[in-house]
Amino acid sequence: MWINNVYLKNFRNYPELDITLTSGANLFIGKNAQGKSNFLESIELLSLGKSSRQVSDLDLISHNQNSMQAETNFQNDYNLENLKICYEKHSNNKVNKSYFINGKAYKTRKPVLGRLLTVSFKSQDLQLSQNAPKYRRDWLDNLACLISKAYLEIYNNYEKIIAQKNSLLRNNFNSNLVSFNDSLDVYNQQIAQHGAKLIKFRLKTLDRINQYAQITLVNISSANDNLIIDYLRKSNNESSKNNLSYLNSVSQDEFANLLYNDMQTTKALEILRKQSLIGPHRDDLEFIINNQPAKGFASQGQHRSLILALKLAELQLLEDKFSQKPVLLLDDVLAELDENRQTELISRIYQSCQTIITTVNISYLPKNLFKEAFVFDVNNGHITKS
Ligand SMILES: Nc1ncnc2c1ncn2[C@@H]1O[C@H](COP(=O)(O)OP(=O)(O)O)[C@@H](O)[C@H]1O
Ligand SMILES: [Mg+2]
Repeated sequence: MWINNVYLKNFRNYPELDITLTSGANLFIGKNAQGKSNFLESIELLSLGKSSRQVSDLDLISHNQNSMQAETNFQNDYNLENLKICYEKHSNNKVNKSYFINGKAYKTRKPVLGRLLTVSFKSQDLQLSQNAPKYRRDWLDNLACLISKAYLEIYNNYEKIIAQKNSLLRNNFNSNLVSFNDSLDVYNQQIAQHGAKLIKFRLKTLDRINQYAQITLVNISSANDNLIIDYLRKSNNESSKNNLSYLNSVSQDEFANLLYNDMQTTKALEILRKQSLIGPHRDDLEFIINNQPAKGFASQGQHRSLILALKLAELQLLEDKFSQKPVLLLDDVLAELDENRQTELISRIYQSCQTIITTVNISYLPKNLFKEAFVFDVNNGHITKS
């Protein structure tokens, strides 16, 4: 699929933008802080229905403005489609969000998912294996949402109960001990049920990614490295087994029991810390290369290959699932890759995937990329085709 045009109004540092893209490579060149990442963020917003940056909704609205709009017309194998997302600020700083698909209005982002398929690869992603666990969870959760809308509901339900339990832990401990304990127990039972469902879904998604990532890594690393992404379930039981093959053998009911028991034994600590410490919102992923955790053992080159393999796996997985080639978004990342890895990525680009590339310095990029590319200059919230 490919994006025909993007229209932005008061989105971050763009007062108004209306640009037309080519179905091949689109190159956005500009100095730092001009709006290159913001532009890609607007496309991700239209793909996921939310920003993939860890930001508040208000941040997407231009300073001193009360609303923003992002809109695109894109082409898939069958139709021309229109997506539009509007955020409106209210007096209490809450943001009212509306979503439009081919002109029809929706109140939640769920219907938006799975329409405009994108895979984004940012320079920060190269730290995915070393960064804080939240980044790895978000990566898996966003992908799981794109693959299945059912996941979004499971995820939202879970987050809601965690927020309620955290609020109880923060505010109500000293009020009435009996009712506090009763409420906490009700939340823990619900978290166990919803959390177990969430973990099962994540494991299923991970299983699929693992199948693809192993193949893509072999394709790009001459060393024939072996890759497994393991799921690390946070548990207070030190001896609890965590590897994928074990976790895949655990049923949803068994997960619910494990979670509930873990929460019971962590209760005193949760009350002390005033936050919920057990559950999939605290779990992590571990990248294992040749039976060793990448974090700590892998070379910088291996880390890079690993992330590139993940991104190529995402592309392939989405393409197989939806029978459409996703749009590839490359934010400041090509210059970070060496020639071999650039070549691997570029060869994929020329397999007819629309690509939107940002860069500060054009001289790092392979010359053959420019031949048929649309080239744009990004300057302080304005984009011009050169
Ligand atoms: N809500 C906003 N309103 C106005 N400007 C914003 C907003 N959010 C971010 N910016 C501005 O956008 C610029 C950063 O844009 P970004 O796309 O990250 O730059 P880069 O070209 O380096 O990728 C900064 O100058 C920042 O002040
Ligand atoms: Mg940037």
